[in-house]
Amino acid sequence: MMTPKDYMDREDKYGAHNYHPLPVVLEKGEGIYVWDVEGKKYFDFLSAYSAVNQGHCHPKIVNAMVDQAKKLTLTSRAFYNNVLGEYEEYITKYFGYDKVLPMNTGAEAVETAIKLCRKWGYQKKKVKDNEAKIIVCESNFHGRTTTIVSISTDPDARADYGPYTPGFITIPYNNIPALEKALEDKNVVGFLLEPIQGEAGVFVPDEGYLKKAYDLCKKNNVLFIDDEVQTGIARTGKMLACDHEGVRPDILILGKAVSGGVFPVSAALADDDIMLCIKPGEHGSTFGGNPIAGKVAIAALQVVKDEKLAENAERLGKIFRDEFKAIKSDMIELVRGKGLLNAVVIHNKPGKTAWDVCIAMAEAGLLAKPTHGNIIRFAPPLVITEAQLREAMNIIKAVFKKFE
Ligand SMILES: Cc1ncc(COP(=O)(O)O)c(C=O)c1O
Repeated sequence: MMTPKDYMDREDKYGAHNYHPLPVVLEKGEGIYVWDVEGKKYFDFLSAYSAVNQGHCHPKIVNAMVDQAKKLTLTSRAFYNNVLGEYEEYITKYFGYDKVLPMNTGAEAVETAIKLCRKWGYQKKKVKDNEAKIIVCESNFHGRTTTIVSISTDPDARADYGPYTPGFITIPYNNIPALEKALEDKNVVGFLLEPIQGEAGVFVPDEGYLKKAYDLCKKNNVLFIDDEVQTGIARTGKMLACDHEGVRPDILILGKAVSGGVFPVSAALADDDIMLCIKPGEHGSTFGGNPIAGKVAIAALQVVKDEKLAENAERLGKIFRDEFKAIKSDMIELVRGKGLLNAVVIHNKPGKTAWDVCIAMAEAGLLAKPTHGNIIRFAPPLVITEAQLREAMNIIKAVFKKFE
């Protein structure tokens, strides 16, 4: 019989050391719960970085995958298949765009948006060859490709990966004057941002920021490119975080929960004027838009509507923040978030760091992960009920009490 330590040692020995996991070894998931190899049950308050919004192993999504896997898994885009069009029609109508470009990971969908935006810049905005610029924000997280880390301001994500891709202007997040100034450059073709900065520690911009930024983009003939890989699919209490301000992005980037965490599915959505700037042979992916992905995404998106996950996230998010703010602990600096995407900033002291809190919560049966040293993100699957949330809050409260 392998012990948890054996599993961890094996990963450590044979796997690259590009992650620092909490010391739990999971083998099963259902709804909001996961179980470790010793049978211990946990509340999952990470949801695979908001990919598992619909809950672990949702039967409708898993069945869609298994049924399709028995028929046809992959055709590549060299041929048509009988599922892709069904999925494309479904997702474009769901979000209200003319077209979708299907990819697999979030980073690929971001790359797709960058490429689309540049094409549009040269073909439609008539920017001179190789001079297009895209505005991005400090502390962003858009993924791990070489171009995307080129626009990161996080030394961990970026250092020693140069030379970096040119053609980007970095401005502070949540800063309209900085955006106005950057937009004076006539070679700017796009503004790429997260509507809430998730990886940075759930930074929620001021109310009105997204709308003002969008209006400025329109005024300057610049595409508003919205990375909703983490915030989308009901996580923040609306289908998209941009919906809170009634903003409809020119390019919408989705990933993670598009598949309910069952299969890698990502997408860039846009209208014809933008999407048709890419012609056959100019972009793609062997797995992008495969039949399993199509069926899985249809099922996963349908679950979000059928089970009213956005409404649930909105309502329970408020309860979560209220309950957390009521905890009396000098370790808690600040609680922030929207819907069920929340973060707590910990006043780190030796033996009382965010990592220590996460270890103690894991021991008590609740999993969450620190980010940037002193921030803990709390993002349970959106199928959580009020009773379950209150039970989880009791665990969290008991842990903070223990540290007093
Ligand atoms: C906002 C945002 N964009 C893009 C990505 C990258 O997605 P992936 O890890 O699937 O490449 C992430 C992942 O955390 C993200 O939060």
